[in-house]
Amino acid sequence: MNIESEAGRDRFVFQQEESIQQNLKRSFSPEFKFGSSVSAFQVEGNLDGTRRTNWDVWFEKGPEGSPIQSGEIGPNWWTPGEAEKDFERLAALGMEAQRFGIEWARIEPEQGQINQEAIKRYHGMLDSLKNLGIEPMITLNHFSIPEWLAKQGGWENKSSRTAFKAYAERMVDEFGDVPYWITINEPANIATIGYLSGGEWPPGRNFDPKAALSVMHNVEAANNEAYEVIKKTKPEAQVGSANYVIWFEPDDPNSKIDRAVAKAARTVYNSGLRYLHHTKDSSDFIGIDFYTGFNVRFNPSNISKITMEDEAIGMVKKFPLGETVKRGDLTSDMGWPIAPDFFLKAVQEMYARYKKPIIITENGIADRDDGMRSFYLLSHLVSLHEAVERGVDVRGYYHWSSVDNLEWMEGYGPKFGLISVDSTSGERTIRQSAELYKEIAKSHEIDVNRLAHDYLTEEQIERFSQFLDRIQE
Ligand code: BGC
Repeated sequence: MNIESEAGRDRFVFQQEESIQQNLKRSFSPEFKFGSSVSAFQVEGNLDGTRRTNWDVWFEKGPEGSPIQSGEIGPNWWTPGEAEKDFERLAALGMEAQRFGIEWARIEPEQGQINQEAIKRYHGMLDSLKNLGIEPMITLNHFSIPEWLAKQGGWENKSSRTAFKAYAERMVDEFGDVPYWITINEPANIATIGYLSGGEWPPGRNFDPKAALSVMHNVEAANNEAYEVIKKTKPEAQVGSANYVIWFEPDDPNSKIDRAVAKAARTVYNSGLRYLHHTKDSSDFIGIDFYTGFNVRFNPSNISKITMEDEAIGMVKKFPLGETVKRGDLTSDMGWPIAPDFFLKAVQEMYARYKKPIIITENGIADRDDGMRSFYLLSHLVSLHEAVERGVDVRGYYHWSSVDNLEWMEGYGPKFGLISVDSTSGERTIRQSAELYKEIAKSHEIDVNRLAHDYLTEEQIERFSQFLDRIQE
């Protein structure tokens, strides 16, 4: 450590002692769960070629082709033993909970035909989690749907509701011990990215509001019907969905119109285009997937535009009457602003709005060399703790992601994992930031000052200190 960095650290300690004593140690209750998260499609791979989803078809026939490079296998969880070895690594990192997905197309390769082998494979994963004392959370749908359903029109067709209900019923009959269930991941992103904002995701519709509306009606009904069947079979199961939440902050806080545009953006976007309004009575908790936030300013020329940032899921760039402005200069490898103070605001607002327990079902950063993840984790967990202190009922935090995985159209390029995975050889390495997360998960406490010292650079310590000041304002 050089003198300069000592000086930075001393200043940090001094500031801490001066004004933010209460930040020094922050404890989470014993019931709070620390875990990590993946989806089926992004980690399973398709080495045996048995999976047929709309996304497999999209990679074969979509306009951009497949982002997967030849020889890439990713974490390869479908091969027996691979997921299990990662669960062992995650258990060693102190993980208490695991969100993972079931691939509907594997369970039901043709409508009504059930693949017992696939069911057996998922039982294997669940047994392994059980043996390690890790609590499972199952996601029933995370963007990919069976090809046979896509051929019927996917979520645009009402038939998707009954098909999803039947699938959910089967899954709860089969895996009834699982305590947490996510019905649908980011329902509004299915409609916006697939049907409204440029055609990057299947089914590649450029701007089709009518279809997007049907999709929203059907995913809402699918959630509500699945909720009912799961609860009928297992009343004690906790069921919810995972919702993409972005914080939109007025660019000029003194401008009434910026404030109004930011609030409107949050109301529309963070309700999942009203999805949460229509499903809150069929949800035991609200799952929040939070990555980033933007400043927002009024722009009347964008009256009828919705466009997305490049390389980003649901990162709105232009929307009716407004546009987003990148905030600050700290970003992920994908250019998404790092905004931990916005996380606090978002969690508080979502709780105030829906008055349901909150679970952070995703939160993480694409960070190949792991230079930012410790800063990201520490600051976001402090924000989350602050939300708990302020009365928000937060039940758990699932970091995205357990392992490096397939980032949809970006392929295996972006690295979100606590555990790094060489996408070709499959070789694993535990990232340094995972050690920081382990310390927090194992003790249920954030020893703020020490962790900042041990894991952050001098510049990050300065930023972190500014962030702490901001959340106290
Ligand atoms: C999605 C994940 C994705 C992550 C990072 C979330 O919106 O649920 O599938 O990998 O964002 O982009």
